[in-house]
Amino acid sequence: QTIYLSNYTPPAFLVEKVELTFHLNPEKTRVVSKIKFIPNPASQSGEFFLHGENLTLVSARIDGQEVTPTITETGLTCAVPNAPFTWEAEVEINPAANTALEGLYMSNGMYCTQCEAEGFRKITYYPDRPDVMAPFSVRIEGPHPVLLSNGNPTGAGDGWAEWHDPWPKPAYLFALVAGDLVNHPDTFTTRSGRKVDLNIWVRPGDEGKCAFGMEALKKSMKWDEDVYGREYDLDVFNIVAVDDFNMGAMENKGLNIFNSSCVLASPETSTDMNFERIEAIIAHEYFHNWTGNRITCRDWFQLCLKEGLTVFRDSEFTADMRSAPVKRISDVIALRGRQFREDNGPLAHPVRPDSFVEINNFYTATVYEKGAELIGMLKRLVGDDGYAKALDLYFDRHDGDAATIEDWLKVFEDATGRDLTQFKRWYEQAGTPRLKVTDDFKDGTYTINFEQETPPTPGQLRKDPRVIPIAVGLLNPNGDEVVPTTMLEMTGAKQSFSFDGLAARPVPSILRDFSAPVIVQRDSTNDERAFLLAHDTDPFNKWEAGRDLARDVLIGMVRDGAAPDDGYLEAMHAMLRDDSLDPAFRALALGLPSQDDIAQTLHETGATPDPQAIWDAGQTLRQAMAQKMQDTLPRLYAQHQVSAPYAPDAQQSGDRALANAVLGLLTRLDGGAQAQRQYDAADNMTQQLAAWGCLLQAGKGDAATAAFFDQWQDDRLVVDKWFSLQVVHADPADAVETCARLTEHPDFNWKNPNRFRATLGALAMSPAAFHRADGAGYALLADWLIRLDPVNPQTTARMCTAFETWARYDSTRQAHAKAALERILETPELSRDTTEMVSRILGQ
Ligand code: ARG
Ligand code: ZN
Repeated sequence: QTIYLSNYTPPAFLVEKVELTFHLNPEKTRVVSKIKFIPNPASQSGEFFLHGENLTLVSARIDGQEVTPTITETGLTCAVPNAPFTWEAEVEINPAANTALEGLYMSNGMYCTQCEAEGFRKITYYPDRPDVMAPFSVRIEGPHPVLLSNGNPTGAGDGWAEWHDPWPKPAYLFALVAGDLVNHPDTFTTRSGRKVDLNIWVRPGDEGKCAFGMEALKKSMKWDEDVYGREYDLDVFNIVAVDDFNMGAMENKGLNIFNSSCVLASPETSTDMNFERIEAIIAHEYFHNWTGNRITCRDWFQLCLKEGLTVFRDSEFTADMRSAPVKRISDVIALRGRQFREDNGPLAHPVRPDSFVEINNFYTATVYEKGAELIGMLKRLVGDDGYAKALDLYFDRHDGDAATIEDWLKVFEDATGRDLTQFKRWYEQAGTPRLKVTDDFKDGTYTINFEQETPPTPGQLRKDPRVIPIAVGLLNPNGDEVVPTTMLEMTGAKQSFSFDGLAARPVPSILRDFSAPVIVQRDSTNDERAFLLAHDTDPFNKWEAGRDLARDVLIGMVRDGAAPDDGYLEAMHAMLRDDSLDPAFRALALGLPSQDDIAQTLHETGATPDPQAIWDAGQTLRQAMAQKMQDTLPRLYAQHQVSAPYAPDAQQSGDRALANAVLGLLTRLDGGAQAQRQYDAADNMTQQLAAWGCLLQAGKGDAATAAFFDQWQDDRLVVDKWFSLQVVHADPADAVETCARLTEHPDFNWKNPNRFRATLGALAMSPAAFHRADGAGYALLADWLIRLDPVNPQTTARMCTAFETWARYDSTRQAHAKAALERILETPELSRDTTEMVSRILGQ
């Protein structure tokens, strides 16, 4: 059943307050609810419907009178007074049997919840929609030392605790945690003087992995005050780490729940990348307190209202805490890897979708990451001051609201006087615009001509031109910047911009800082790219020039059997030796475009990508790079070893990233000798994992693989890495077998989403292995998705995206992929989640 944005109607009843009592029991938890309803003046319907799934109703009363509601698979209806009334119900639920990890479930003996998007209806009968907001009072009874819910604690005793959350909230922000937990406490005083107790709650044994997350939380709280003027609004802020979790983390009011992989960190067990990601996710969930909780979404079509904005805010935070250019480049790499891929395939959908079957399938890179890009474009178009004014107005006008994208855009129009009618198309039209660029130079005037076009996407054949902010700078032939960054605003399908008074034909630097999520198409020479790599003042475009070079070189190797281009090797070598460049930047610049990126580019030029040939070209090019740079590598490797005590900061991580990128090349020359030394000496996970990865790639990893497991078998998060890396670094010829073998390992607990993703997800992320010509990769993943679906539909559906590029490959691969997808689709009682995903991927 498809839900449409255009069918929105306001709720028939509003909720004035909610009181919940939980009598915890693994198989028979009783939930008692007392809810004060009032007819919604904005609705004529009068129909009383409460969502509810997998609930056993024990009793129901209205104003104290026993009633017998009509119960269906999705909820209940009941005759009610046309006046305020009190609903009381008692239901029984079975948290121990809840393997879908949605609603109230158990993880390692601890009770926890995940209610976004529609999990609260698995806890009790309720109008489970985000435009119904209410203050909650919660009483928890159970034999657990720690009993947590949203808001402030109002009382506790032996076997019980009470909580009150004064801020009206939708049910998706409800949370409850109960268990034998220990805390890492701290405090934060807000700028107006509210003292807030902070806690990170973990399983005993994990207390030593909380300090970094706590620092990140305090930095986030301070940053939101300083940059957005947003203060925290309760007396406590709790974070809980949970091992079984479908997503990264959840912003429940005052009680954030995290996948333990997204909060627990220590130098010995976490990589620099883990630390950076944890800092960003803590910030993200904290920032939701204002962008998501205080101002929430009217309905799930508006998901990008909170997610796009909050991702944008957490990117700004990371840029401020670390290096802005490095963050921007990493974000664009991720955007191209996940969102462009989505936007150019069968799952393409607008940032604000207009229909869905299962909302959990729309927590996508498009809603989150492209959603964040739209905020970035808005900020570019209205300027920093305009953005600040608009945000102040947004918080002022909509605090306490369940808002829409229309509300959001209106705030910008009112604050800046700008008409955003055309900009709105970015929210409504799916697909990545192609921006064709040509240029002329005559009599000192340089003209750039742009043409925009967006290919059709499922259900949207015609696209209207969008407003595109294009940041441009011009360099003169000796490398000086003659025109600094200028924001051009393209509104038409075709548009030209001129710069006059130039002495010579300039070299353009187009779409600086990746000012819009588009694909630039421009014929450029390798010389020009090498020139920009050497001289561009915009760090993003400097990186981009190197990436464009690498992409063309790889395409030439795959398509025409060309040899590795020496110009590219020279340019990279020069870049690598330039000690004025940030090591983190150099590490990124040394990276090649992803294999998936090359496949998509080939597909677009009308060629049929061969994943194995793309993998081979990457290997050949890396080998050539190693040879070319052989004299430089040992020096660079030595120069960027960190001697100070480990710190996961930007500077040290940059040095390690560069040294480890260099180690990857060195290993191609020394067969792994240096990597083995690094492995043996490593005292932190970044160094250990990088070295082991090099050894695996060199085919010399067996001893390290055994030693690594031996050392870390009791640390579940490190064991996830052990599963993952063996697949990631396997030769594509036997990665499928490696993955299959790992699924037989006693520690392959497939019901745990982290372990499942570490193992099968790693296969899905290795294009040459997953798209193996004999279909073995597709078949293995399909087998496991069929097995997981009845247990955990959400994680199954999400992993189906591995197949989303199937139609770009040759007919043999297509036939294998299609057979695997059809096999999934024909599975009896397949979940709604997976049915929707597979049907869309098949184009049905
Ligand atoms: N709102 C959470 C976040 O962005 C994501 C939770 C999504 N959960 C889900 N089951 N779809 O931080
Ligand atoms: Zn979020």
